[in-house]
Amino acid sequence: MKRSTGIFAALILVLAAVSMAFAAEGNARKGKYTYRAKCRTCHGATASDLSPSSKTQAEWKKIFAKPEAIKCFKDWKGVSPEDKGDIFAYLHDYAKDSPSPAKCN
Ligand code: HEC
Repeated sequence: MKRSTGIFAALILVLAAVSMAFAAEGNARKGKYTYRAKCRTCHGATASDLSPSSKTQAEWKKIFAKPEAIKCFKDWKGVSPEDKGDIFAYLHDYAKDSPSPAKCN
């Protein structure tokens, strides 16, 4: 009895850790809309036509590890840390080498 309680508790801990890991990754569906609203205003108009499929997952990872180095970072108006995570999730999950590359249009 004691033992199965321990296993059950361990299982709960693992599940909690997994769901937290997903939360930290950002929400790609939300990111798609945030990207359209806050980035596509320039990208695809006055700036490069950037889509998730413009880069590989590794390239997006590298870029978002240091977003303050991106040329337009100062123009990211009203982009919260959460938005940043969502945008990263969207760009990364639909990158050139992802299972479903996406073009933003
Ligand atoms: C006010 C206009 C503007 C906005 C808004 C903007 N950008 Fe940019 N961005 C630029 C310009 C200009 C450049 C540099 C030249 C280019 O790539 O066209 C650039 C460059 C970049 C680059 C580097 C391009 C490359 O090929 O390496 C990335 C990545 C990027 N922006 C992402 C974003 C993201 C993500 C957002 C939204 C959070 C955003 N930008 C919002 C104008 C903008």
